[in-house]
Amino acid sequence: MESSIDTCRARWLAARVKIDGAPSMLRSPRETRVFALDGRAALVTGAGQGVGAGIARLLAAQGAIVAVNDLDGERAEATAAEIRAAGGRAYPSVFDVTDHPGASSAVRTFERAVAPIDILVNNAGNGGAEGFRPARFRETVPEDWQRFADVNLFGVMACTKAVVDGMCVRRFGRVITIASAAGVVGQSFGISLYGAAKGGAISFMRHLAMETARDGVTANTIALGLMDPRPSGRELAHTAEQAKHIPVGRLGSPEDAGAACVFLASDEAAWITGQTLQVNGGSSTS
Ligand SMILES: NC(=O)c1ccc[n+]([C@@H]2O[C@H](COP(=O)([O-])OP(=O)(O)OC[C@H]3O[C@@H](n4cnc5c(N)ncnc54)[C@H](O)[C@@H]3O)[C@@H](O)[C@H]2O)c1
Repeated sequence: MESSIDTCRARWLAARVKIDGAPSMLRSPRETRVFALDGRAALVTGAGQGVGAGIARLLAAQGAIVAVNDLDGERAEATAAEIRAAGGRAYPSVFDVTDHPGASSAVRTFERAVAPIDILVNNAGNGGAEGFRPARFRETVPEDWQRFADVNLFGVMACTKAVVDGMCVRRFGRVITIASAAGVVGQSFGISLYGAAKGGAISFMRHLAMETARDGVTANTIALGLMDPRPSGRELAHTAEQAKHIPVGRLGSPEDAGAACVFLASDEAAWITGQTLQVNGGSSTS
């Protein structure tokens, strides 16, 4: 298996070398191992628990240095400490993604002290700091509309704004936004505000992808299906019942999301941009 992956890798490199006209030699660990992220720096937002923590762990396991963002400093430090204990490199980066000046300033601090951000994973979402309470649209008030848009859409823009100029100048970047099936498919159980904000983020990524395609920066979205709530400190409750209807027969894990991020963040995914990858155990097909 490994040798066939290595063969594919060698062919891919040979093809790229032909197109680029670069000398035919292997130059870095990224060019000798598939989906390696050695030498890359990643910022993962909302990575203090749940899906984001899994994404941070997998990016670090592939060699990336990770800035672990969360509103909650203890959570950010806990994820960073777990990565370091496993032999990776990670630093907490505490800020609120909905605070654009705060996000920019934290990114500048990290970039000065550690390394420029090559990979941004916009993961912070759900209902933001106040949590998620499903409600049908007729039961909502405008303050609820604002809250969902703030974290799931404007938070994505704020973090993207903080890193994208540097990525374009350096001619490499990966912007990955964690969205949801709710941003793609209509549902009747009180998630219209959330779905609207996620749909906005998906659309934003598509346009960003077109604007930065010639600068070596890709922008993609991962639409997650139903995830196991326990890594986020929530009860399994009725989610276990819903899992029976997922074609592969189980809820999603933080590692499922992390593996998709590793792929989209890799050098090998350079030709994939403006896409929405459905990671959902087959709950919907495309
Ligand atoms: N859990 C699911 O079933 C599911 C399904 C589809 C998509 N998603 C998406 O996956 C992502 C992660 O979901 P989760 O359930 O693992 O998250 P979660 O609710 O467990 O929260 C993750 C972390 O984000 C932090 N956070 C919240 N608001 C923040 C802000 N404004 N700035 C910085 N940090 C903030 C929280 O402190 C928390 O530690 C979200 O974008 C969510 O919308 C989740």
